[in-house]
Amino acid sequence: MKKLTGPFSQLLSLADMPLKGAIKDDQLKVITDGGILTADGIIIATGHFETLRSQHPDAVVEEIKEDYVLLPGFVDCHTHICFAGSRAKDYNLRIQGKSYMEIAKAGGGIWDSVTQTRAADEPALVASLVKRAERHLSEGVTTIEVKSGYGLSVTEELKQLRAIKQADGLTKADLISTCLAAHLLPRDFNGDTEAYLNYILQELLPIVKKEGLSNRADIFIEENAFGTAAALKYLTAAKAMGFELTVHADQFSTGGLGVAIAMGAVSADHLEASGDREIELIKDTDTIAVVLPGASLGLGMPYAPARKLLDAGACLAIASDWNPGSAPMGDLLLQAALMSAAEKLGTAEVFAGLTYRATYALSLSDRGQLKAGMLADMQAYPCSDYREILYHQGKLKPAKVWKSGTLIPPIT
Ligand code: NIG
Ligand code: FE
Repeated sequence: MKKLTGPFSQLLSLADMPLKGAIKDDQLKVITDGGILTADGIIIATGHFETLRSQHPDAVVEEIKEDYVLLPGFVDCHTHICFAGSRAKDYNLRIQGKSYMEIAKAGGGIWDSVTQTRAADEPALVASLVKRAERHLSEGVTTIEVKSGYGLSVTEELKQLRAIKQADGLTKADLISTCLAAHLLPRDFNGDTEAYLNYILQELLPIVKKEGLSNRADIFIEENAFGTAAALKYLTAAKAMGFELTVHADQFSTGGLGVAIAMGAVSADHLEASGDREIELIKDTDTIAVVLPGASLGLGMPYAPARKLLDAGACLAIASDWNPGSAPMGDLLLQAALMSAAEKLGTAEVFAGLTYRATYALSLSDRGQLKAGMLADMQAYPCSDYREILYHQGKLKPAKVWKSGTLIPPIT
C-alpha cells in the first residue's frame, strides 16, 4: 500500500552528499513543503507534497498538520547499552577529581559493570536493553549498535550477545551487535592477555559466528586494556574468521588508531587523544572516524578533534557511546549539539555524522538518507527551520518517529 506523508515545512533528505570531508550547509538539499512516498516501509520518492499527491492519487495520505522538519532517523553506531546496574559511585568520584583510570585501578570502572552484568539474568538484561533502545527510538534513533563486553567469559559474553539478539526482536529499533569480549582482561581469568585473547578466539568467536550473534569484533586498545601488539594479533585472527573490525582507539593515549588503519577496520572510535599525526593516518582511508562526545562529557575531558578530522578529509560519524561508566547520559542529539558548538561543526556535518556517514561504520547501505529504495526510517521535529534543531542543543526532540514507515507511539 502506497502512503504519502506530509506536507513538511522542510524535508532534508541527506541524499547525494559527500562521504568524506567538510560539508557546507548549502550542500543540504532542503525541500520546502515536502512529502515522502513510501510502500511497505521503503521509500519510493521524495518531493514537493502537492506534486507527489497529484502524481499518486492512489496513495493513502498521512497528513501532517503542523510545522515539522523531516530528517532521516539517526544511526547510533557505538553504544554499550546492554548492561546491568549503575556506576554513579564512579561518577561521583570523578567529579571530586579522581580520573577514569584511577577509579578503574581501585576496583571501579568496567570491571564493576562486568560484576553487575554477570549478576543479572538474561531476561533482566533483555528488559533493560529494550527500555534503553525504546528511549533512543523515541528520540529519533532508529538504528543502534550495541556491544557486549561486560561479560568477559564465553558464557557471559554469549549471555549478552543473546540478550541483544532477543531485544532486537522486541523493539522496533534495529539493533546491530558487536562482540567486545576484548574490552578488558578479566580479573578472574587465570592467565595473561595473550592467553585471554586466544581463549576468546578459540572458544567464543566460533560460537558467535555459528549462532549468527554478531559479525563484528571490537577491542579496547589502551594502557589498562590491550596493547597494540596483542590487538594486532587478535584482530588479524578475528578478521580471518570473517569478522568485520572496529576499534576503541586513542581514547586516552595514541596507538589504537594506527592498529585500526593497519587492519582496515570499518571504524576507529573515540580519538580524543589523536593529534595531527594520527589525523594524517586516517584521512585518506575508508576507516570511519567515530567521535563520542558523550564520553568527553561524562569524563569531563576534551572532545576528539572533529573539526580537524573533517578539514583533513576524513569521514566523521558521531555516536553516543552510551554506557554505564564514561557516557551514562545517552542523549545523542544533545551530545552532538554540544560538540558542534565547541568544535565548530556545521549543521550539515552534524546531520551527516548522525545519519548516512554513521551507516558506513556499520556497513549498512539501506538507510541514513531519505531516497528511493531506502528504509523509511525518519523523524519530524516541531519547527519550520532545520537550524532550530541544533540551536536548542538537544532540548527539541522529534515529535514523530517512523521506523520502516511505521509511526512509533510515544513512550508513556
Ligand atoms: O567506550 N573505553 C572503553 N569502553 C567504554 C567505557 C565503558 C565503561 O566505562 O563501562 C567507552 O568509553
Ligand atoms: Fe565505547
